[in-house]
Amino acid sequence: MLLLRRCHSLTRFGPLNTQRHQVTPAVVSCAVRLWSSSSEDGGSYQRAHGPRWRHGLAGLLAGTGAVLAYGLHHHKAEQQDSSTVQTIKKTSAFPIISQEEVTTHRSLEHGIWVTFKGGVYDITEFVAMHPGGDKILLAAGGALEPFWALYAVHNQEHVLEMLSEYKVGELSAEDVKKQRAIKTSDPYSTEPERHPALHINNLKPFNAEPPPELLSDSFITPSAIFFKRNHLPVPQVDAASYQLHIEGLPGGVLTLSLEELKTRFPKHTITATLQCAGNRRSEMNKVKQVKGLNWGIAAISNATWGGARLRDVLLAAGYSPDVAQRAFHVQFEGLDKDVTGTTYGASIPLNKAVNEEGDVLLAYEMNGQDIPPDHGYPVRAVVPGTVGARNVKWLGKIIVSAEESSSHWQQNDYKGFAPGTDWDTVDFKSAPAIQELPIQSAITVPTDGAVVDRSSEEVTVKGYAWSGGGREVVRVDVSLDGGKTWQVAQMRSSEKGQAPGPSPPPGRAWAWKLWEVTAPLPAEAQELEIVCKAVDNSYNMQPDTVPPIWNLRGVLSNAWHRVKVEIREDDNEE
Ligand code: MTE
Repeated sequence: MLLLRRCHSLTRFGPLNTQRHQVTPAVVSCAVRLWSSSSEDGGSYQRAHGPRWRHGLAGLLAGTGAVLAYGLHHHKAEQQDSSTVQTIKKTSAFPIISQEEVTTHRSLEHGIWVTFKGGVYDITEFVAMHPGGDKILLAAGGALEPFWALYAVHNQEHVLEMLSEYKVGELSAEDVKKQRAIKTSDPYSTEPERHPALHINNLKPFNAEPPPELLSDSFITPSAIFFKRNHLPVPQVDAASYQLHIEGLPGGVLTLSLEELKTRFPKHTITATLQCAGNRRSEMNKVKQVKGLNWGIAAISNATWGGARLRDVLLAAGYSPDVAQRAFHVQFEGLDKDVTGTTYGASIPLNKAVNEEGDVLLAYEMNGQDIPPDHGYPVRAVVPGTVGARNVKWLGKIIVSAEESSSHWQQNDYKGFAPGTDWDTVDFKSAPAIQELPIQSAITVPTDGAVVDRSSEEVTVKGYAWSGGGREVVRVDVSLDGGKTWQVAQMRSSEKGQAPGPSPPPGRAWAWKLWEVTAPLPAEAQELEIVCKAVDNSYNMQPDTVPPIWNLRGVLSNAWHRVKVEIREDDNEE
């Protein structure tokens, strides 16, 4: 905190000195402090060069949700304790600077300046400390607005406050006018229409989940309310000119059109549940704040998927068992891009991809129709039993390789850590990328805080249960008294009223089970604490509370789900 205050006192006089190109250690540590720990230890220059800082900086201009959320949180945490934080103010104390002058500051040598809403900012100190400054440099000498349009989350008070630390001047009125005339094109302007029932967690990029009670209404989630998790704008892909490239196999590069994918390979259909690693993150947030979208219990959905088997396509591209001697991963690249042209990417183990029983699809159908734009039109990877993040949408390229994907989402996100690991100590290299997800269940009906009338005499509890890696859910236990007594729920694996299909072969239970319990209301109780927990066929069970599995990114949140319900006594009986 002290350091932050020192930063402010240093920068307060900054505007008068517009040539701050020499980066002194003192200034460096101040800038770092804006992104690093809020602990009192002062954060050395060495520590500042850790991965946390680098990613925080990338987030400032063009970074990803996780990265940005981290940086923002740190700043916010500091800000909450500090009454000295400045906000962006239009003040005549700043010199007037022309766009021409700003344009000359596009290198470390001459300083890195950017403009934002009529202000001029010297961000040289940030860039000097940022080894991978490629993204930040894109905005050098120009306006931030087009970059921040891609990540609307930047338009928050605390981001602007942080930027204000670097203000060096006001852009001349004439240049402001010119800038306004250049219409910033919104990369989200072509996004598809979405169902109004969805609870939106973030608009740009679009992230939304269905209301829990709708989720358990149908075994197959209608595509319109299937949860949507986008890191970037939805790309516009023309099916007629679409090409999928498969690389890294002895046959050279295989390129397939959509038509070829559909006609050269047998169509395979599976019913599989997708779950985001961040599903139920909001429960971790209640224990201690984590970084990421505040998902409820519905970042999970179930669909039928139709497409070519990845295995068949890899075989056509020259895969043979010899390849497995040198290659261990299959990387996927999406066609959605950030401002630097970096695409979304992830990878899965090669053995999952080529195993006949792995059922990995290059899917072009969802629930019997073309895959909708939000879910990866025209082709997405469906990797059943595996965390949502590896089910890459808008698939452009598949690479068989010795290494995992180098993408941010494989290397520096979607990993689990111990409850004691914080943003000062986390080392993303030390943990494996999440692949198969653990056992999960949640209550969809009633919702937390619901009221049940005593006159109804009984309560019906509904929910879903699913386990990763093809492990089948074999039992769901439900308690109405916070876990003291339990009853076993009825499970179903088909639409209501329809006969269940044949049991999945062992290790290939890709779809969730919906469950239900109807029980008498306990005579004396005024409130119920309803709890559910599931068991899979490896006898994996959910942990009973959140704190032992809390982690800084709020992933893998699968503790017993609990909802409190009030029992309202019938007035007429009095
Ligand atoms: N693929 C691409 N190309 N871009 C993305 O942002 N998000 C991933 C995955 N595949 C993503 C992607 C994540 S984190 C999840 S949870 C799932 O897609 C969500 O799939 P859905 O939106 O179809 O539910």
